[in-house]
Amino acid sequence: MRTDTTDTPERGGHGAVGHVPVLLKEAIDFLAVQRGGTCLDATVALGGHSCEIARRLGAPGHLIGFDKDPAALAIVGGATGALARPAEQGADWPQITLIHGSFAEVAERIAPATLDGLLADLGVSSLQLQDAARGFSFQAEGPLDMRMNPMSGETAEQVVNHIDERELADVIYEFGEERRSRRIARAIVRSRPIRTTRQLVEVISAAARPMKLGQHKYERIHPATRTFQALRIFVNHELDDLKALLEAAPRVLKPGGRLVVISFHSLEDRIVKDALREGAKQGLYRLLTKKPVTATEEEIDRNPRSRSAKMRAAEKV
Ligand SMILES: C[S@@+](CC[C@H](N)C(=O)[O-])C[C@H]1O[C@@H](n2cnc3c(N)ncnc32)[C@H](O)[C@@H]1O
Repeated sequence: MRTDTTDTPERGGHGAVGHVPVLLKEAIDFLAVQRGGTCLDATVALGGHSCEIARRLGAPGHLIGFDKDPAALAIVGGATGALARPAEQGADWPQITLIHGSFAEVAERIAPATLDGLLADLGVSSLQLQDAARGFSFQAEGPLDMRMNPMSGETAEQVVNHIDERELADVIYEFGEERRSRRIARAIVRSRPIRTTRQLVEVISAAARPMKLGQHKYERIHPATRTFQALRIFVNHELDDLKALLEAAPRVLKPGGRLVVISFHSLEDRIVKDALREGAKQGLYRLLTKKPVTATEEEIDRNPRSRSAKMRAAEKV
């Protein structure tokens, strides 16, 4: 069982909220970006991967970036954002199109067989985690929001306070792979109304003790980790969006185009693995990674967020 343990402070990166791109070199190598190509970064966030892709595409290329988060797009597309043309590139910078929307809409918004590369680096960005007002982090006091797109959909607060106990337990079990889901759901329902991340953490911590997963010190996870992951996935329809993206991918990629997906927990990775294997069986893909690529010890030391990352890649036949 692999859980998204990205709720840890990060060091380094660019800008005030450092986002260190995960598996950057590996992702770029598997994308095999060619000068003049067209690439889609389905999760552009602060542009860590996008910036490297843009460098390789150069002026004749086109980079399309999706994100659900308007705040991320405003930063990355701004004058000092990662996608502003760096001085050392001169005029050699691709056309850039940023789209505020879900990558679940790729089939409708991208023409068939037009992409040379498609990258998805799933989950939350540092921008989202580090802004307490977004409610993603159990380490900071904030409103229970958790929406990647704050302009639409139900908040975590609405979910936590309104769905019935059984459904809440199912959400926590299914999307958090939390064995103590019933106990946690019961405690939440008894403590309603719950308005803030801190309140929710206290309720969960009282209902469930810390889990020990292995010998590594960082594998001892906070009792709220799985419930926060579950609520975030549910609020943002993350697994349905991922399935829609994976269904669209073989249609929007050109023959020879590359798909690279970086996931952060086992639910996502299973969906990616199954979709790529099924695609290969149907003759749509040549698999480029038999086993998922993971971060080196050196990267994990530098960027703790990378410890749960798994990357899979395939080439459209
Ligand atoms: C891990 S971050 C990407 C980081 C980026 N690769 C970088 O290096 O800066 C994930 C981003 O994907 C976005 N996201 C998650 N699900 C999405 C979806 N269904 N559609 C569009 N964007 C999504 C989040 O809002 C977040 O900004």
